[in-house]
Amino acid sequence: MLVKTVTKAVIPAAGLGTRFLPITKSMPKEMIPVVHKPVIHYVVEEAYLSGIKDILIITGKGKRAIEDYFDLDKNASGNEMIHSLDEILGRINIYYTRQKGVRGLGDAIGHAGAFAGGDPFAVLLGDTITIPPCTMALGSIYEKHGKSVIAVEKVPRDMIQNYGIVATSDDTRKDAFVIDDLIEKPVPEHAPSDLAILGSYLLTPEIFDCLREVTPDRKGEIQLTDALRILARKETVLGHVFNGRRLDIGNKIDWLKANIELALADPELGPHVEEFIRRLCP
Ligand code: G1P
Repeated sequence: MLVKTVTKAVIPAAGLGTRFLPITKSMPKEMIPVVHKPVIHYVVEEAYLSGIKDILIITGKGKRAIEDYFDLDKNASGNEMIHSLDEILGRINIYYTRQKGVRGLGDAIGHAGAFAGGDPFAVLLGDTITIPPCTMALGSIYEKHGKSVIAVEKVPRDMIQNYGIVATSDDTRKDAFVIDDLIEKPVPEHAPSDLAILGSYLLTPEIFDCLREVTPDRKGEIQLTDALRILARKETVLGHVFNGRRLDIGNKIDWLKANIELALADPELGPHVEEFIRRLCP
């Protein structure tokens, strides 16, 4: 077994963001700000902090603002946040490729074959922030076991049908457990557990063959979960229960909550926001 250090990451960012209409009529959902920077800025920072050197962002129609955002900005040298972003950009490479249509997360990842070039790679969704960086934990589990790893978290029963759900007969309290099966967005009655795929993955390149075997779902989309299901039949796929905070920016209420949580945690803004909230809700 040849286990390589993980230095590549893929960020799918081609989704339409219909839950954010009308904002997403003219801007990518990944560019929606959380406190003071776009959500995809946090995602790239997470990849960087996890040791990633090369990032492939999968874009699509209407997503050009993402590419502009990650250009170096020499005109704004006095701005501290631009300076820290430019420092990251000086240390990593970002590549882009376009998904030709909305054909699902699996189809998007299928565009990363040449980029992966036989190496393992992380997947971070363009609209999800994890604190502390979940990719870092997945990277160390991969480096220990040499297997694909999927981050999961327990979700309430009424949320099950929004997620991919994993089945396991292993002891899930361990750092990494063996996944027996996966099912994309089951109704709660058919869900094998309450462990939901949270959107952070560490994948071996074998996933590309599995993606080619997937039959499109009823909406004509190729699901990554279906490819992982095929992979889990061929070789060990591990799960990791993430114990940190996942901020899903993909829907309005969670986006609002993420703004409040991160603003309260900001040393400069936090005290003002706290005082403001106390005044609103005495
Ligand atoms: C995707 C995956 C799903 C996962 C979810 C996490 O679904 O297909 O398995 O649980 O991300 O956010 P989406 O949210 O793109 O519908």
